[in-house]
Amino acid sequence: MSTPQQHPEAAPQYPQFRFVEFSTRRMKRGLVPARIEIIHSEGDHDEMWLSAGDINDYIRLWGPHEALTVALKAYGQGGPGMNYEAIAPRVLDPACGSRMMWFDRGHPDAVFGDVRSETLSITDRSHGRIDGTRTLTVCPDMQMDFRHLPFSDDTFRLVAFDPPHLVRAGPRSWLAAKYGKLSKDWRDDLRQGFAECFRVLHPDGVLVFKWNETQVKLSEVLALTPHQPLFGNTSGRKAGTHWLVFMKPSIQELTR
Ligand SMILES: C[S@@+](CC[C@H](N)C(=O)[O-])C[C@H]1O[C@@H](n2cnc3c(N)ncnc32)[C@H](O)[C@@H]1O
Repeated sequence: MSTPQQHPEAAPQYPQFRFVEFSTRRMKRGLVPARIEIIHSEGDHDEMWLSAGDINDYIRLWGPHEALTVALKAYGQGGPGMNYEAIAPRVLDPACGSRMMWFDRGHPDAVFGDVRSETLSITDRSHGRIDGTRTLTVCPDMQMDFRHLPFSDDTFRLVAFDPPHLVRAGPRSWLAAKYGKLSKDWRDDLRQGFAECFRVLHPDGVLVFKWNETQVKLSEVLALTPHQPLFGNTSGRKAGTHWLVFMKPSIQELTR
């Protein structure tokens, strides 16, 4: 009797790939900058530095795995011999949610990250809908945790940091589904998030931070950043949402 064939989605397809980093330090030394972990079906792991050409070969062989697509995007979809400095992604949105704030939700200069990748259907009758169902899709280029970003120091020209701002929300809350919810260790989470955003920013790079202070005051959050904002719109507690602009100090400023 023949063994029934397993459904293709019933188990992970091997090899699997994990994007580890895109190292601008290596790139500046003329070395291949994209590091990928390859996980084989036997459980062996390899980490390899792959050029855009190698990645294209892997995609031809194994199909468009998410980690390979992200690495290729880091190369600006380029081939070997291209000017990586000019084409590496310049913008990071490490908590992108459903990218509502973006005018172009697939902007080629940006890497979109989030801790989750999911489609949710939530009951919400606040907009007069009879069935009361809303759907939300969070589909980052790569899953990441803003407390431990998988990028080298000094990688991006701009980081847009829009972390969750709710500390209290019911289990069926549409707002919590849309924006996420902070953990009870939210101060540590945000402190690490700011430190990581500044670490991956290029000196003189810009951090745009978005915060809604209906539950936690902006001043409490600004106590968690290593640098203070230059300017922004502080629209008051009632209006709620603030946009603040920071600039990572240059090396000269840090050593002054
Ligand atoms: C305020 S929402 C972002 C909304 C988004 N800017 C937009 O325009 O739709 C915050 C997002 O942060 C994500 N998040 C929460 N904790 C995270 C973490 N540790 N690392 C990365 N993303 C996280 C949530 O899943 C949520 O999608």
